[in-house]
Amino acid sequence: MISKNNLFQVNLQFGRGSLNKTGEEIKAYGDNALIVPAKNSMKRLGFLDKLIEILESEKINSTVFEKVEQNPTVEEVDEGIKLARDNNCNLIIGIGGGSSIDTAKGIAIGATHFNEDISTIWDFVTIDEKRGAQITNKILPTVAITSTSGTGSHVTPYSVITNKKTHEKPGIYSPYIVPTLSIVDINIVSSMPKELTAVTGFDALCHAMESFVAIGEHPISDLYALKSVELISENLDKAYNNGDDINARTNMALADTLAGLAISTSRSVLPHSMAHSISGHYPMVQHGMALACITLQVMKFNLESNDSKITVEKYAKIAELFGKKGTDKKELALKSIEAILEIQEKIGIQKTLSDLPIDKGKIEIMTNDAFRIMKSGIERNPRKAEKSDVIKIYEESF
Ligand code: NZQ
Ligand code: MN
Repeated sequence: MISKNNLFQVNLQFGRGSLNKTGEEIKAYGDNALIVPAKNSMKRLGFLDKLIEILESEKINSTVFEKVEQNPTVEEVDEGIKLARDNNCNLIIGIGGGSSIDTAKGIAIGATHFNEDISTIWDFVTIDEKRGAQITNKILPTVAITSTSGTGSHVTPYSVITNKKTHEKPGIYSPYIVPTLSIVDINIVSSMPKELTAVTGFDALCHAMESFVAIGEHPISDLYALKSVELISENLDKAYNNGDDINARTNMALADTLAGLAISTSRSVLPHSMAHSISGHYPMVQHGMALACITLQVMKFNLESNDSKITVEKYAKIAELFGKKGTDKKELALKSIEAILEIQEKIGIQKTLSDLPIDKGKIEIMTNDAFRIMKSGIERNPRKAEKSDVIKIYEESF
């Protein structure tokens, strides 16, 4: 039976120079914007000034909130909410990677939902028994201009925020969080340096693979997921080796968008649940890098002693998209692990947790956090994972 899935519609402007064509449309959503750029790069590369110029030409007033770090925190989002409220902003524009877009989404929520009982973005988080405050269509319109090709945040109903005090990194979910307008300008994503191209591209690959193998039947998002795997298998190393390869950049941006749509419907599974615990405790660890360190071990776990025909067939399909061949399905499925290792080697991220500043002593608490905070991802993993399994996977990832 097909499980209940939401299919989201996205208002997408995709292509080279697409940012230049959007001023008039943005004007329809508001005339007093808060811009949330990646802290340094968007200014340095000239994209922030370009955006301000486009807004000015449409007589849209703007204030810039230049505080977003990678893995954005509750404090950063709350500060942005205050600024948006103090300036009566009626539109929030994120220009940057997932961190900037997620912050913009969080600000858009807080700017219109605060009241006597709700005074921080953390009030919208659901963890353990605590239910997050309801998000309604009062949310401010958001424009998401992505500068990376990985998180899919420009099309997803999630905003991922880190609590520095508790080391928790949950996703806030609401259908209203999907951006009002999503802009993918290939000129912007083409500015990513090599390492960022690698880690973000790997994140997109994880979204595509995880949503595809997730328990349940999701025939529509599977189309997105498989196309995304195919595009990444053909283009990630090209985009990594030659950042000016516009065709490869375009295909990676498309893969990112499709994989974002896939996780919007069928979600991510065990690797993401584990990766969020890593960055929750170690915010200096990039999301895609955390995934790079654990994904192969999770794939081994999912395929080892798993005779689920469906799981084997799904991983065999992924292997095939990476050009692997095998005489039987199980053999082919196991080759998906080989294929992921090969792509990691090609783009310089064949890493383990030992390469990161991570203390093995944190494994138990990271495991507990994964089960508390990202439980639904564990429940949808194609092989049932107990806490002892997750501890073992973390250990084997060192
Ligand atoms: O601070 P600066 O110097 O500007 O550097 C930025 C940023 O700090 C730099 N950067 C971004 N675009 C660039 C660029 N540098 C040069 N050229 C460009 N075009 O890269 C640094 C990292 O950016 P960040 O936004 O943190 O990376 P990413 O796009 O990977 O986003 C990661 C965040 O998104 C969340 C992650 O957990 C993490 O917090 N995710 C959001 C999801 C969602 N909303 O649906 C789903 C994902 O699974 C993920 O959890
Ligand atoms: Mn991700």
